[in-house]
Amino acid sequence: MAIGTAPGKAILFGEHAVVYGQPAIAVPVHALLARARVETASRGEAGRLWIEAPDIGYSGWTELLEASQPPAAEPIAGLLLATRLTLKHLNAGQQPALQLELESELPLASGMGSSAAVSVAVVRAVAEHLGESLSPEVVSQLAFEVEQHYHGTPSGIDNTVIAYDAPIYFRRGRPPQVIEVLSAFGLVLADTGRPSPTRELVAGVRQRWEADRSGYQRVFSEIGGVVDQARRSIETGEIEQLGALMNQNQRLLAQLGVSSPELDAMVRAALAAGASGAKLSGAGGGGALIATGERANLHRLRSALLEAGAARAFVTEVGA
Ligand code: PMV
Repeated sequence: MAIGTAPGKAILFGEHAVVYGQPAIAVPVHALLARARVETASRGEAGRLWIEAPDIGYSGWTELLEASQPPAAEPIAGLLLATRLTLKHLNAGQQPALQLELESELPLASGMGSSAAVSVAVVRAVAEHLGESLSPEVVSQLAFEVEQHYHGTPSGIDNTVIAYDAPIYFRRGRPPQVIEVLSAFGLVLADTGRPSPTRELVAGVRQRWEADRSGYQRVFSEIGGVVDQARRSIETGEIEQLGALMNQNQRLLAQLGVSSPELDAMVRAALAAGASGAKLSGAGGGGALIATGERANLHRLRSALLEAGAARAFVTEVGA
């Protein structure tokens, strides 16, 4: 049996501005994994695929290779497209009936990279089933095609950080740069429990940008400046500066209109509990939030975020 896994992700700095060409920094999160298993099915005709995704209560047969459009229904559509693109990339001919099983610990539409993680896990499992191993670059590209199909005009940061499985400095359309983390630092990653519909939030920013291009451009450039300072801090081990940079980034994200009363309240709760910085992570509106501070205080921060209404919260380490 072939197994492919993929971590979740957190965007540390630069979301939204990254869509407009600014840099962003993201890290993999190993506390949450997506896992795909592929094997030859014990029954079924050649060319068919049995998909089993208990997290979303789905199981059923589908055509493995179909020239027509992939089905519109999420999230099976993503699994299926990732499978088909990988088979096509590897020039796999007619296959016996296959079985694909998917498990994901990543909450959907939560800013933690669920859709890209599922695609990466499936691409890896399908490739392994065929006895092939794909480079992170190719895995990322195949997952990006799935993201583009279902998520509008993504920057590509999610599939990239998840496929490379390393902290990255990302700029749209350029090869990602892996960031060397000089001193490890801790983060609390919390899920507000409210969905973060990336496509809608990105479209909202676009509409407001169209109405006020120079104002939004200024905010995007300022975010880019914060990202570059954060990169230097991470690479030189000056991690005590990251909190203030997160606060700055959060203020700029609020100016873009992508924070929310819940996110604002959770940011305040984290700061009141001693965080040096906190911000939304991902598309916003709801979704994920990150906070940082002294290592000894991270569990207290986690409790404060749960008390403030987070549905889930994890302590995670960057660069460990
Ligand atoms: O909501 P997520 O985790 O997919 O993050 C979206 C990040 C954005 O910068 C808002 C969009 C993008 O494609 O980069």
